[in-house]
Amino acid sequence: MKITAISIFPEYFAATKLSLIGKAIDSKLIEFAPIDLREFTHDNHKTVDDTPYGGGAGMVMKPEPWGEAIDSSLNRHDGIVDLIILTPAGRTFNQELANKFAQRENLIFACGRYEGIDARVADFYRGHQRVRLHEISIGNYVLNGGEVAALVMIEAITRLIPGVIGNPDSLLEESHNEIGEVEYPVYTKPAEWRGLQVPEVLKSGNHGEISNWRRSEAKRRSNSLRESE
Ligand code: ADE
Repeated sequence: MKITAISIFPEYFAATKLSLIGKAIDSKLIEFAPIDLREFTHDNHKTVDDTPYGGGAGMVMKPEPWGEAIDSSLNRHDGIVDLIILTPAGRTFNQELANKFAQRENLIFACGRYEGIDARVADFYRGHQRVRLHEISIGNYVLNGGEVAALVMIEAITRLIPGVIGNPDSLLEESHNEIGEVEYPVYTKPAEWRGLQVPEVLKSGNHGEISNWRRSEAKRRSNSLRESE
């Protein structure tokens, strides 16, 4: 998978050098390039924003640097590209979308700041023959920019790529599996910690009972999560 992330703070993406994503990049399972939006400005101040038409608070990101940065990024990739614009106004990211993007070859993340990117950028690339456009939010809260949101998505997506995670079985059992149920509680040694015991059934060696217990605990957790919404 080839990933490009466009931002005025490409340093945010240093985090991709760590842990499993870093290893996947080293082993060439993933190719990742952070791109500095300001390289696509042509004035001395490297201006990326301007006041909004119609008035109002804050600044809006100018379309020209975004157009040039996305065109240049498209040249890094072959064929069809999924262009993901991070915005709190987008469709909410979830495990199903992570599974879908994990099957794609080319992802470009456009990380806006300020009050967002001039809306014509999304309109233009929605009609581009090499682009599948997605406007995505990672949750119902507002961040200062799309960088952290892109990192969240990159982690959730790339860990699903075969070979990125050492033990692929751990993908099968985990939270937010296909049926939307969260994971059961887990325990390790010691058997007693600060007066709290590991549930007896887990020490019984009875695989049938263990699996029933885990299923019912997962159900209980999911229900109580739903009730607290
Ligand atoms: N940019 C600002 N807030 C965001 C959010 N919640 N998701 C994605 N991008 C954002």
